[in-house]
Amino acid sequence: MSRVAVVGTGYVGLTTAACLARLGHDVVAADLDAEKVARLRKGEIPILEERLPALVAEGLEEKRLQFVVGAAEAVRDAEFVFLCVQTPQGESGEADLSAVEAVVREVGPLLAPDAVVVTKSTVPVGTAKRIARWLSEAGAAHEVGVASNPEFLREGTAVRDFLEPTRIVIGCEDTAVAVRVSDLYRDVPAPLVVTDAASAEMIKYASNVFLATKISYINSIAVICEAVNADVKDVALGMGYDPRIGRDFLNPGPGFGGSCLPKDSAALLKTAAGIGYDFELLRGVIEVNARQRDHVVGKVRTALGGDVRGRKIAVWGLTYKANTDDLRDSPALEIAARLAEEGGDVHAYDPISGEIAGGQVPGVVIADDPYTVCEDAEVLALLTEWDTFRWLDFRSVAASMATPRIVDARNLLDGVELRHLGFDYRGIGR
Ligand code: UGA
Repeated sequence: MSRVAVVGTGYVGLTTAACLARLGHDVVAADLDAEKVARLRKGEIPILEERLPALVAEGLEEKRLQFVVGAAEAVRDAEFVFLCVQTPQGESGEADLSAVEAVVREVGPLLAPDAVVVTKSTVPVGTAKRIARWLSEAGAAHEVGVASNPEFLREGTAVRDFLEPTRIVIGCEDTAVAVRVSDLYRDVPAPLVVTDAASAEMIKYASNVFLATKISYINSIAVICEAVNADVKDVALGMGYDPRIGRDFLNPGPGFGGSCLPKDSAALLKTAAGIGYDFELLRGVIEVNARQRDHVVGKVRTALGGDVRGRKIAVWGLTYKANTDDLRDSPALEIAARLAEEGGDVHAYDPISGEIAGGQVPGVVIADDPYTVCEDAEVLALLTEWDTFRWLDFRSVAASMATPRIVDARNLLDGVELRHLGFDYRGIGR
């Protein structure tokens, strides 16, 4: 078993640390935020992520998982240092590597000569080479290895995605180092792709952008379906049986959001521009995604006869997708805020409402009950696909609304049944 340091305890870092401990390694996870570290030591998990609390508790109890303040504290005896710090979108679309650089320069002189620095954070192609340069400038031993080991975790299912991944990708020019990194995962049954660092870094972007492309594609098909009276749900089903296409990521909605697909799409576009390639297809994907948010705002407006001013609008769902408490770049949040900006009297409920601070969504009243938001509302917009919304009592919802209208931006509900209950029901692409 190996000694592993994980730098950064966000979604990726915390999942990586807990899962590597689960696989039997001795893991020290570091964060700069002392208060967060203190909470993690008590097993308090700051994010909503299935199975993570149990795994962290297990790691702490079995002493295979420790939390410390600062990277320096974590890396001293480490054979592997996983970089899981933020790489936010910079001003012109490119990924901002300053946190990665700061950590590498800080830990470089402290690393054992046979240590391997592994990037988990999504970093632009060429970053492994830059890390090697920063390490050498910082005085690290020249034997210190650098590898790229991108993650493919989805929020909400991150633990499962780590322990039962679709593939493990390791990019490194030195095969012996790649073999050492792959050995960390020897108990994980998954295809292994060993390649050079640039290809591994590219696999991450190409995968996320492909997923983004699938979503924009089906959102475009949905717009056409609406106009020609076809049902996009059946269209996606009929397409998805073809294994070359697959059914996943063909759910139309308010567009993709979150901290990954939008950021990675912008970053790859920037990389393409940097080499003088106009990635028209990706520009289209991003444009369609922005338009999809307008499309949903337009649907609510149309449901209200063209004007939202002074009208009570109920919103269900604010997170960027279900089963997460993440609001970053959430289409639902933007749509709710825009309806309020247009003068709508917007009241929103989300299963994580309790954690949403007042004023976080400008102009929107946050409620902690799905029924009260609907009282006297003229339309209900369902913007995030939380499963619990399917099981609510729609008879009482209809009775409490001023006019029973639903814009179901996730095609989550049963339109036939709702129409039967008297709702004016509008889905996406149906
Ligand atoms: C995404 C990728 O799916 C992961 O493989 C990757 O590891 C991760 O980014 C990352 O780079 O860290 P995540 O952002 O957690 O994961 O969420 P997704 O499940 O991919 O959803 C992204 C957005 O697309 C959400 O807004 C979701 O509602 C939307 N979406 C997804 C659709 O509109 N339709 C679909 O069919 C699927």
